[in-house]
Parts: sequence; C-alpha cells; structure tokens
Amino acid sequence: GKVRAPTHIISTISDDRGEEPRYAGVPMSSIIEQGYGVGDVISLLWFKRSLPRYCTQFIEICIMLCADHGPCVSGAHNTIVTARAGKDLVSSLVSGLLTIGPRFGGAIDDAARYFKDAYDRGLTPYEYVEGMKKKGIRVPGIGHRIKSRDNRDKRVELLQKFAHTHFPSVKYMEYAVQVENYTLSKANNLVLNVDGAIGSLFLDLLAGSGMFTKQEIDEIVEIGYLNGLFVLARSIGLIGHTFDQKRLKQPLYRHPWEDVLYTK
Ligand code: ACO
Ligand code: LMR
Repeated sequence: GKVRAPTHIISTISDDRGEEPRYAGVPMSSIIEQGYGVGDVISLLWFKRSLPRYCTQFIEICIMLCADHGPCVSGAHNTIVTARAGKDLVSSLVSGLLTIGPRFGGAIDDAARYFKDAYDRGLTPYEYVEGMKKKGIRVPGIGHRIKSRDNRDKRVELLQKFAHTHFPSVKYMEYAVQVENYTLSKANNLVLNVDGAIGSLFLDLLAGSGMFTKQEIDEIVEIGYLNGLFVLARSIGLIGHTFDQKRLKQPLYRHPWEDVLYTK
C-alpha cells in the first residue's frame, strides 16, 4: 500500500492549497459573497464551525466593546510609552498586549472556569466567594479600579441586554450577577466587570447554542479561548494609540519625579 511520509505539523483550521483559501472548509469566495462578518471568521478559525447569527453578533459586540478604554489603562499606557520611545508599530502593540493578564483584560478564561465550576457544583454565591477567599484567590470577573455600584460599567449592561434578548438561556450570567450581589455587599467596587460578563455569557453561548458537546465546552474552557477576545479587541485600540502618538509627534516619555515616592 501507500506509505505516507510523516508530517511535522498537523493543522485543522485553514487550507491555502487550492484555488482559494478555506477557513474550516469554507472557501473565501463564500465568506465574501455570503456577507460573512468578523464574528463568522472567528467562529470558523477558533471554533471550527459556523455559529448562528446571534452568536457571531455577540462575538462582534465583545470585540467592539473591548476595543479601547482610554489612554490610562495598563495596556494603552505601555503602548503609548513604547511608541514615544520611538519604537515601531509591532513593538508598541505587543508592549501593550503584554499587560493583559489576570488583573487586566485577561481574567475572562478564569472567570468562565470558576463560574462554571461553582454553578455546576451548585455552590451558593456565599459558598463560592468565601471559598475563594479561603484559598486566597480573587474572584475573577469581579472588581474594577474605577467602576462601582453607583458607576456601573455600561459595557456589562449592553452585553447583558443583548444576551437577555437573544440567548436561549443566561443561567451562568445570572449566577455571576448573584455573585456580584454578594460581593457588592462587601465593597462598592466589587462589581461584575467586563471580563466576568464575557466569561459568564460565553458559557451561556456555548451551552445554549446547541452547537457544542459538553466535552467540547469543557475543552474550550480548559484550553482558555476567551482571553483571545480581549487580546483581539484591544489590539484595535492599541494600534490606534500607536498611530495617535506618532501623529502627535510625542517626545520620549519620562515619568515625573514628583509622582514617585522615593523612600528607603
Ligand atoms: N475578589 C475578591 N476580593 C477582591 C477582588 C476580587 N475580584 N477585587 C478586589 N478585592 C478586594 C480585596 O479584599 C482587595 O484586598 P487585597 O489586596 O488584600 O486582596 C481589596 O478589594 C482592594 O483591592 P484593590 O487591589 O485595591 O482593588 P483594585 O481596585 O486595585 O482591583 C482589580 C481591581 C485588579 C480588577 C481587582 O478587582 C481584581 O483583581 N479582580 C479580579 C481580576 C479581574 O476580574 N480583572 C479584570 C478587570 S476588568 C478589565 O481589566 C477589562
Ligand atoms: C479596560 O477595559 O481597559 C478596563 O476595564 C480597565 C480599566 O481600568 O478601565
């Protein structure tokens, strides 16, 4: 019989060998002619399937809402400082991206992991939050530097509104809101943040769309796909901040002495 030469790479998401590239088997001409959007392309390349319109719209909303949050946040600050040091676009971009992590923008996967585990195990918000406290872990998806009970995050409200209208079920998000009600009884800034809203709602999307097996959902949560939404989204803003600094011909940034506490 035929002997197949061993390959060094296995790839399952795209193929450029034919007349036209294919994303998860879908030819580029169909993607363009059928009016696919960025949400559809993400569905094909990340989830290897076409998702219903409300799911791809939700993905696009996440991207739009998280594209930027002003110049003062960790990522934009790094990008601005790097651009002002005369570095190129890619260096300025990755310098900002490297701040995305457990405190800033990169808590979506952990929020999904922990909310899912707590909900599936039937923990009350009290049991979940106090259990995390005992373990010395901050509740991912809860808390914000400037948002609070009286200054809610509009992005979270918009995501919740969309999901209430279009998702068949929002049980994980409702659980996250119950957790928020409990954490707000402890401190005013312990709101459900945008990472927590996306993390819990994506669980609802995965479970409610009927497009994923339980095993696939577990794999998505375990591998951690969802921080990718913030990374992708915020790249848009970070690129914008790079252009902005270059356009403004901003000089090298040096932090003022007065803003440093020099102490022994
Ligand atoms: N769970 C439990 N307690 C918390 C949490 C939380 N998520 N966040 C703050 N607290 C409490 C703690 O008691 C903390 O005291 P500690 O430092 O002894 O742990 C106290 O509030 C004050 O914490 P600060 O560090 O002053 O709060 P800050 O406003 O700086 O934190 C932050 C904001 C980093 C977002 C924090 O709430 C946090 O780590 N949250 C979890 C991670 C997360 O969801 N990040 C995404 C934020 S949204 C975004 O970046 C797009
Ligand atoms: C963001 O989207 O960058 C924020 O929620 C973080 C912040 O501190 O505003």
